Amino acid sequence: MGNNIQSIRGMHDFAPAEAQTMRMLETKLIRVLNSYAYQEIRTPVVEKLDLFKRSIGEVTDIVEKEMYAFEDRGGDWLALRPEGTASTVRAGIQNGWLHNQQPRYWYLGPYFRRERPQKGRYRQFHQLGVETFGLAGPDIDAELILISQRFWQVLGLPRHCLQLQLNSLGDADARARHRHDLVDFLSQHETGLDEDARKRLHTNPLRVLDSKNPQVQDITAQAPVLLDYLGEQEQEHFAALQASLDTLHISYQINPRLVRGLDYYNRTVFEWVSTELGAQGTVCAGGRYDQLVEQMGGRATPAAGFAVGLERLHSLAEKNLLTEIKVIDIYLVALGDNAVAYTMELAEQIRTELPNLAIQMNCGGGSIKSQMKRADRCGARLALIAGDDEVAQQQITIKDLLGDQPQRTVSKDALVELLKVEN
Ligand code: HAM
Repeated sequence: MGNNIQSIRGMHDFAPAEAQTMRMLETKLIRVLNSYAYQEIRTPVVEKLDLFKRSIGEVTDIVEKEMYAFEDRGGDWLALRPEGTASTVRAGIQNGWLHNQQPRYWYLGPYFRRERPQKGRYRQFHQLGVETFGLAGPDIDAELILISQRFWQVLGLPRHCLQLQLNSLGDADARARHRHDLVDFLSQHETGLDEDARKRLHTNPLRVLDSKNPQVQDITAQAPVLLDYLGEQEQEHFAALQASLDTLHISYQINPRLVRGLDYYNRTVFEWVSTELGAQGTVCAGGRYDQLVEQMGGRATPAAGFAVGLERLHSLAEKNLLTEIKVIDIYLVALGDNAVAYTMELAEQIRTELPNLAIQMNCGGGSIKSQMKRADRCGARLALIAGDDEVAQQQITIKDLLGDQPQRTVSKDALVELLKVEN
């Protein structure tokens, strides 16, 4: 490509078919969120760097290695948002959206992490996130899981395509007691750990349980399990959630190794994982973060949410979505200057009366042969053809491009009614 400027590695262009199926996917998910009465919010793509350091945690992969952080011309340290929970909490506190209220929000947009790009892992990706505030019980945890499950349903994904994994991280006290024992255990096995795990051992030992290194996994298979440290209330919360899921016939797997890569979680955490996506199989992830609002300077407010990685979900659903893709319905062929103005006006009338039809006007002239070739190539069902005769008679010729109806010429005024009947 010589000296042509290329896009940034891990940041992608969407071709029309991909953009169209992605938009269809988003529309279907948003419809689900509307049916649960969740409201959209929008927050800036750039925030103060400290927001993410304080919420996600200093000793996490995202903050240590993956942030697009920069000093702006005024000397402020800013970052492209790597996720949406921190921004939602910031916006909620700043705008007074949380106090004495129990809002349920959703958001959708691009997020940025400087990870090593591979299939399903990008440096700019898109999330649809959901955050709820002021609701402490397991009922909202169950609702979040129900919403996510309905997402898969409306996309026509079969049940076995995504498995729900569930864990409880308990509260601060349980985690402190577990951490103490975990550090003891890992210290005894320090020589078998890799460099990353050894580093995490004293900074963020829970993350060692998330290691992808099989040798480290062998060791952590024997490590103390956080679930054994839960206090009574946390156990009850987790049991109540499981009972709800059982009643709702949602199957799940308890995964004690599920610790999540962000520090703000407590109690319920969950992930929907697919085996059909290779190494990057987590399509949706979330949980409770009951301390975060207070930690960020707001009044203590329980909270829970999740986010869906839209590129990963799109990979799973693309085949289904392609069958619904919207093609051009009508191609307008115009021969001569009079016919161009005539068909353009006609197309406007059809668009007004039948706004769901996609109508493409031949532009740039051409012979009847070349215009008909374009009509065939664009996949339209019908060609509407006008030359001087049709203009003079105020008529239009209809050619069926996909079926076998004979060509007919009808009056201009009859056309819209005819199309209405046929659609
Ligand atoms: P997360 O697990 O970091 O959680 O990201 C959620 C989802 O975003 C992942 O499961 C994955 O599908 C997608 N994702 C993450 N990184 C990438 C990437 N580099 N390329 C493609 N997809 C990616 C959060 O972000 C939390 N804020 C979720 C949450 C909301 N928890 C509570 N509320």
